[in-house]
Amino acid sequence: MHILTLETTCDETSAAVITDRLEVLGSVVASQDELHGRFGGVVPEIASRAHVERILPVIDEALGRAGIALKDLDAVAVANTPGLAGSLLIGLVAAKTLCVTLGVPLIAVNHLQAHIYACRLASKKDVFPCVGLIVSGGHTSLYRCGGPLEFELLGSTIDDAAGEAFDKVASMIGLPYPGGPAIQRAAEQGNSRAYRFPRALLNDEDRLDFSFSGLKTAVRYTIAGPGRTDFKSIRLDPQQVADLAASFQEAVVDCLLGKALLALRQTGMRVLCVGGGVAANTRLRGRLEEEIQLAGAELHIAPLELCTDNAVMGAIAVERYKAGLIEDLDLDISPGVVRK
Ligand code: KG4
Ligand code: ZN
Repeated sequence: MHILTLETTCDETSAAVITDRLEVLGSVVASQDELHGRFGGVVPEIASRAHVERILPVIDEALGRAGIALKDLDAVAVANTPGLAGSLLIGLVAAKTLCVTLGVPLIAVNHLQAHIYACRLASKKDVFPCVGLIVSGGHTSLYRCGGPLEFELLGSTIDDAAGEAFDKVASMIGLPYPGGPAIQRAAEQGNSRAYRFPRALLNDEDRLDFSFSGLKTAVRYTIAGPGRTDFKSIRLDPQQVADLAASFQEAVVDCLLGKALLALRQTGMRVLCVGGGVAANTRLRGRLEEEIQLAGAELHIAPLELCTDNAVMGAIAVERYKAGLIEDLDLDISPGVVRK
């Protein structure tokens, strides 16, 4: 059986062809980084217009790589939650149109659950039950994942997502968008103890939530005092940039790691799965590998190519299809987070 999976939740236009045995036959990701770079973050209207232009060529390319034609598809899956409303709509309309014209079933994918499922896909074995940590540009959350279709939100950021903080801090210290990879590179030359930044909520053992807006403000006030609005014009020398990047990155990693360990303790689960764009961070991956092992738990981090948004992780649709979870054609988008 061949399933076409579509992903247009934010600023990547992606399509993949997956079999019911979880084989990936073809996959394409068209990134829009070059369109949003000069704004320092994703501009929703630009993102949805770019999806309109790219979705059909991306689908054609994915089918071509898989060596199949539209008529060979048995189902179409689409990430319809959460994400940017305009972006989600493009994927959903494309998926519904294909379902109507080909007469095949429509499967809904929750983008956050798909980020966790990337670990299942890569490990090629069952990773459930597990604690799922999703760290991306739009979300930072912990889930209790009883099985591939059983997700319960344990906690999430109360303000900015970790990736958003990476992107905003990069822009403050003169690094390009997307900020995550740029901060990671700069941090390699920096001292992570040069600045002592806050680790909000880290010592609160009752909460599995995160907060990164205070950290962002702390970086800003380190560059220039609270009163200065022209702080972006302040010239930082390369060592200062590297030290700020390393100290900021370490603070984010401490929070993510601390709460992941707390979630394992609180749930009694022994497996941690980590996905989302920020999971590509080398320092985060290294610290997780060391400390999750020390805690006696098993760690699965999505491989680099499956961390940032992609349609391959939409393979979770295979689980939904097998469970009979087929959608009506009045399926809508849900830009906000669905808690279960
Ligand atoms: O999952 P994703 O592609 O999109 C969302 O669903 O949001 O995540 C994008 C985010 C961006 O904020 C980007 O800066 C961050 O992931 N990111 C990283 C790294 N690579 C991408 N953050 C830290 N270190 C990285 N190496
Ligand atoms: Zn994502």
